[in-house]
Amino acid sequence: MRKKVTVVGAGNVGASCALRLAEKGLADVVVVDILEGIPQGKSLDILQAGPIGGVDVKVAGANDYAATAASDIVVFTAGFPRKPGMSRDDLLWMNYEIVKATTEQVVKHSPDAILIVVANPLDAMCHVAHAVSGFPKQRVMGMAGILDTSRFRTFIAQELEVSVRDVTTMVLGGHGDTMVPLVRHTSIAGIPITELLDGDTIQRLVKRTRDGGAEIVKYLKTGSAYYAPAAAAVEMVEAIVHDSKRVLPCSAYLEGEYGIDGLFVGVPVKLGAAGIEKVFEVQLSAEELGALRKSAAAVKELVDVMRPKLTEAKAAVEA
Ligand code: NAI
Ligand code: 2OP
Repeated sequence: MRKKVTVVGAGNVGASCALRLAEKGLADVVVVDILEGIPQGKSLDILQAGPIGGVDVKVAGANDYAATAASDIVVFTAGFPRKPGMSRDDLLWMNYEIVKATTEQVVKHSPDAILIVVANPLDAMCHVAHAVSGFPKQRVMGMAGILDTSRFRTFIAQELEVSVRDVTTMVLGGHGDTMVPLVRHTSIAGIPITELLDGDTIQRLVKRTRDGGAEIVKYLKTGSAYYAPAAAAVEMVEAIVHDSKRVLPCSAYLEGEYGIDGLFVGVPVKLGAAGIEKVFEVQLSAEELGALRKSAAAVKELVDVMRPKLTEAKAAVEA
């Protein structure tokens, strides 16, 4: 039987996710939003592209979560995007309320779903979905590492004038200024990047990756990136739907891995039908581990601000 995926939020990221999911014929798709008519209209438009692409999946829009019932996977894109001059962290309280309210609705109708959070600040919002749903850690995760890694791969491929397909790397840590592009684990068809680019050039590409979201916000002015973010979220959905055991950087709840406890942080995981099936602990140098822990500390700062509310939400689930 075909899988069912709900996309919460019919804005730029949500609609782009729905389109990509439908074009790939991955699952039946339901898009929900608080705006009346927007999810319905965009879904109908996407559905009408089906005959051209030769895909038969259903795509429906709704304001009521009854339409999302029994979803296998839910992608949370509802939330404010940042504007020029804002950091992702500035979105904390606005998006806390949205992620809390939408998670409550989702779990009522889809108690067995796997939750993929996209709303920013990403790792902090994973904590909200985790606390409010009460779901096991394997079924709550965040999308950011695939996007950040894809940006790094793009910039390296541009610099070397080679195919993006031959650039292998990984960006770990929280989805913010402290993210950790793993230079030592970066290669081009197996050739270490340090044999092909000098240190200054590599650091310039690392910086551009860290600023990758802001670079797009500066151009768009009214919002943030959405095509690559949607592609990244759909890559996660695809790995789960096809049980393909992909190894991808995702925000996962750590309990001691990398010496980090009780925090969502971007790390390499195995993604399959059960969600996060394994967290890989890569051998990191002291410098890399220090950078990852610093990034985790930045996530913790935000989580600590939300702590009383998260504790309240957890207690409500347990009651
Ligand atoms: P957008 O403004 O285009 O869309 C947001 C949608 O959420 C709107 O349609 C709005 O009506 C809806 N919404 C607001 N409150 C809602 C509620 N309570 N229930 C249902 N829907 C609700 O924003 P965009 O560009 O789609 O970005 C969405 C979020 O994703 C932002 O927080 C953004 O920062 C984040 N993002 C995260 C990325 C990542 O790497 N994790 C990458 C790109 C965006
Ligand atoms: C990005 O990195 C806004 O987090 C989003 O583009």
